[in-house]
Amino acid sequence: MNLYKHVSNAINEKLGTSVNLEVPRNRDFGDFSTNAAMVMAKSAGKNPRELAAEILPKITELDFVADASIAGPGFINIKLKDEFIWESACAPQSPKSDTPMTIDLDYGAYNVAKSLHIGHLRTSIVGDTFNRIAKLLGHKTYSWNHIGDWGKPMALIIAWIERLHPELPYFSDNFDPATPVDFEINPTELNAYYPAASTFAKENPDFQAHAQDIKAKFQNGHPGYFALYEKFLKISMKMMQETVSRLNILPFDYDLGERNAAKYLDKVEKILRAKDLISESDGAQVIVVKREDDNKPMPPYMWTDSRGADTYDSTDLAAVYCRKMTDNPDKIIYFTDLRQSLHFEQLFRASQISEIFDYNNLEHIGYGTINGRDGKPFKTRDGNAAGLDDIIDAVNIAVRERVSESGKTLDEGTIRAIALAAVKFNDLMHDVRSDYIFDPASVTSFEGRTGPYILYTAVRLNSVLKRATMTASPTYMPMNADERNLLISVLDFERTVINAFENRATDMIANYAYDLCQLINTFYHNCPILREDTPSDIRAGRLHIVNVAHDTLLKTIDLMGLIVPSEM
Ligand code: ARG
Repeated sequence: MNLYKHVSNAINEKLGTSVNLEVPRNRDFGDFSTNAAMVMAKSAGKNPRELAAEILPKITELDFVADASIAGPGFINIKLKDEFIWESACAPQSPKSDTPMTIDLDYGAYNVAKSLHIGHLRTSIVGDTFNRIAKLLGHKTYSWNHIGDWGKPMALIIAWIERLHPELPYFSDNFDPATPVDFEINPTELNAYYPAASTFAKENPDFQAHAQDIKAKFQNGHPGYFALYEKFLKISMKMMQETVSRLNILPFDYDLGERNAAKYLDKVEKILRAKDLISESDGAQVIVVKREDDNKPMPPYMWTDSRGADTYDSTDLAAVYCRKMTDNPDKIIYFTDLRQSLHFEQLFRASQISEIFDYNNLEHIGYGTINGRDGKPFKTRDGNAAGLDDIIDAVNIAVRERVSESGKTLDEGTIRAIALAAVKFNDLMHDVRSDYIFDPASVTSFEGRTGPYILYTAVRLNSVLKRATMTASPTYMPMNADERNLLISVLDFERTVINAFENRATDMIANYAYDLCQLINTFYHNCPILREDTPSDIRAGRLHIVNVAHDTLLKTIDLMGLIVPSEM
């Protein structure tokens, strides 16, 4: 049950208002508080405290209210009946959206032949959690891994291989795809090609120009370039999968990126031409997306570059069209670095003016940067931009050190699960839009706002349930404050998931998990469950609370895509 919504609706209905309930920090005064009297007094021209006294009996009449009292200038504090809380918490928590939609989610979006870097951490983690939230609420989602497999990097790699192995037959315009070529690419070498080529291109304009020619020819189906591309594409996709699998994210519904979108370019161009939206600028074909009321620079959207090649812009617009044709979604939501905000604003405007997709149903969730302890973008020990694998490795090492220091022995699977939780939880608990500091030592702590703390709490409840020899009883039991607070927090799960979805704020899930765990641990310390001197009816009732809390915690953990080990 969504406790907040239930209570709020009942009060508003009773009083004929629509005011928001407050959740007081200190529950000693009440579980909820309403300023309805203050709002109503304004329009009625009455004294708020007097009006509060008038409406108080109406509130106490509600069947779930144990007690209501007036506070301050006219707040009404409401205390709920324990029986009502107990009963409400008996059914499993299952939030549902009132307006289920079809949503395309664009996240991950890795690049061929560029190993996954720290920037891909957040798109993967936040995108995946958002997907899980939407699914739980009953939305139909499709996740699109919009792979960078068509642009300039492809051409740079081809040009680089040509430089290293000019004798290979791929570079001839007459290459026959049936020709067997004895050439293997080593994955580690492949990862080095792009950075090397792009540095080289910066200093060598001829090489740069050659790569640009290659790009145009490649996109027009040059057989040799294509054969070489297919070769490194396969290797690169495999490496990509290996790294991504370490993050325990749901499989993508589509691993289709720029190359797939390029198939729709002709159709989109027809639409654009029919509306006369393409114009020429410095030899390039562009879509003007500037508006009269713009007070920031709004450059044109690049349809083809001056060599006639497809661009990141054009394939992105084609991708919108493709998705519309494929899933016909109500919304498309993109998760990338904040630095791409301008690109998405342009894309959304281009979609709108071409009438391919409604501007208001396109959203960009831009995330901030992950910094090291020095406040600068996180680097590896040797000063290089950190790869995704480096980050996960660093956290695995930190977990292993911590575990061995504490004298425990845990198997590798458990260590991996703890490291996974450390990385993902730390990412999820921060507001997506802000930068955060990544420090392997602190994210792996078993105490405080960390992933391992969350897992530890789940393992603890699991162990109580395993050790219990009697069954939990859902029969109502009078509750102390720790028991009661825990159930109230369980009953806040549905509201949290709905809010997290509506605000596109995955951090609400992580922070809810932390608050829930704190209440679980307070309950665990103060309310003996399996201890011999605990009377059996209380033990059965507490086991029921453990069951309910465990179930809700696991649902929360599942939304974050963490794995709970069997021991810690
Ligand atoms: N591949 C791009 C990158 O790594 C992100 C693509 C995001 N999605 C999109 N439809 N543009 O920066």
